[in-house]
This record gives sequence, C-alpha cells and structure tokens, in this order.
Amino acid sequence: MIKKITVIGAGNVGATVANVVAHKDIANEVILLDIKKGIAEGKALDIWQSSAINNFNTRVKGVTNDYLATKGSGIIIITSGIPRKPGMSRADLIKTNAGIVKEVTEKSIKYSPDAIIIVVANPLDVMTYAAFKTAKKLKNKVFGMAGTLDTGRYKAFLAEALDISPKCINALLLGGHGDTMVPLPRFTSVAGVPITQLLGKDELDKIVNRTRKGGGELVGLMGTSAWYAPGAAAAQLAEAIVDDEKRIFPVCAYLEGEYGHNDIYIGVPAVIGRDGIHEIIQIEMNEDEKALFEESAKSVREVMNTLDDMNIID
Ligand code: LAC
Repeated sequence: MIKKITVIGAGNVGATVANVVAHKDIANEVILLDIKKGIAEGKALDIWQSSAINNFNTRVKGVTNDYLATKGSGIIIITSGIPRKPGMSRADLIKTNAGIVKEVTEKSIKYSPDAIIIVVANPLDVMTYAAFKTAKKLKNKVFGMAGTLDTGRYKAFLAEALDISPKCINALLLGGHGDTMVPLPRFTSVAGVPITQLLGKDELDKIVNRTRKGGGELVGLMGTSAWYAPGAAAAQLAEAIVDDEKRIFPVCAYLEGEYGHNDIYIGVPAVIGRDGIHEIIQIEMNEDEKALFEESAKSVREVMNTLDDMNIID
C-alpha cells in the first residue's frame, strides 16, 4: 500500500493537489515541498487544520527543499516550474522548467527510488519526457497528467451546453496538452447516447475549440494559469494508483509503437493502477482524427527536439 505521497512545488497547483489528495483520505501522509521558505509549511499547515473540519486523517506536512522528508514516497507529483504568463507560449517555458524538472526528479528519486512519477509541469508532454529521461525508470512509472484535465474541461463545457450533470458524460481526448489536443466527439457519449445525436456540429466544434484553448482562456482571465482543475486531475490519478483502480484516463504516456509513434510522450488513453500505466489503449481513428493526432504529435515532437538540442538532460 502506498502510504506517502510527495507533491513537489507548493504553488497554486501543488497546494491544490495536496489539498485534494488529503481530502480523498487515500494516504497516511502528504509531503508538500517547495524551495521558498515557509510557503509549503504554511499551506500544509492550513490544509492539515481543515482535517478535523472536513474529516480526513491524511497528515499533510510542508518542507523547504528537504528531500529527506520525502523518503519512501510511493508517488511523486511534480508541479514545480514557472507558470505560463499571458502571451507566453508553452514552448517558451521549456528551458527554465526543464532545468527545474531535472533537478527535482533527481533529488526525489534519490529518496524514493520506487516511486511512480506524475508530471504536471508545463509544457506538459515535454516536461514528462524530461522527467522520464532524468529518472531512467520504466516507462509505466513516469507519466503526465494533462489529458485528465483537458477531458474534465471538455465534459464541463458539454454539461453546460446540455444542461445535464457532467457525471453522465464519457469522453476521450488524445494528443499533446496544448492547442493541438484532439477531443474526440465520435468517442463522446452521454449515458451511452452518442454526443453527435445531442448537439449539432457547430456547437460541438465550438466546444472542441474552447477545450483546446481551455488553459489559455484561464490565463487570459486570471493572468496566470489554472489550479483547481489541474490539481484535482493530478489527485484523481494518484487515487487511481493508490486504490489500484485500473480506470482508464487519458494521460501523457511514452509510446513505443502505439499509435504508430516511437520515443514520444503524448496523450493517449491508459489503464491506471498500482504500477502506474498498466496498458495503453489503442483506438481506431478515422482519417480526420488521425490527421489531427499527427499534427499534435508533430508539435510535441518539435518541442521535444528543442529540449534535446538544449542538452539539459544527458
Ligand atoms: C492549464 C495549464 C495548467 O491547462 O496547463 O490550465
């Protein structure tokens, strides 16, 4: 059983992950770590003080750069990095955040060599690749969060348009975490009814488009990137691991032949359980869907190549 979960980075996303994980009461201990003195300690203490009010037992502790305190974690969730500013593309973030991801991955796996790593730092697909290359772990033990978030946004927009519960919606989304992501209306249903029977093409296109730009919409509104849904999505993946749920989520996974690609981290549906990714689910796409996926893979690959050219990770 996984008793300890570490969240690296106590910014808005990291603190939300710690808070949601604690409320799920799935771990004995959550360690929140940040480089800025006092911030992780303060937020962790605040979360812990809600335990008696909200009825959970998970002990939440904050530390400043003290990796020894993370020792023996079953899951490491990496949220550190600078957030995207208005007008900044995800690719602009690459250099700074790859350096940070490399450093925190090295330091955390030193104390938790068996941990499963979930990456939440942006640009997501490439930061997951950076963590994988640094950690030199099995591919099933390093994956990224974003498809779960993007599907959440897609479902929320659909629920609003249909005026029904988001819980009734089943949906699938592929590709990188960016404007080229591929929400798939053909694989979206409401209590079993295909979405294409409930919404017209124009309305669906609008929702797909809004989903693709979902992160940017929030950056535009708040001047910084989102945290409630990203944090909740990462916590949901941690829960799937802790409870060995074997639920299917779209996650950013390493492909070796699946979907006709090799040596790339990109969003695909996968079975998540105790060992991280148990299996990648391959779906049959039509020509249009394939073309969109290829476009997304091309854009992810470009950023991956940029990272490789920077020689930040050996
Ligand atoms: C978003 C950022 C967190 O999509 O990637 O909101």
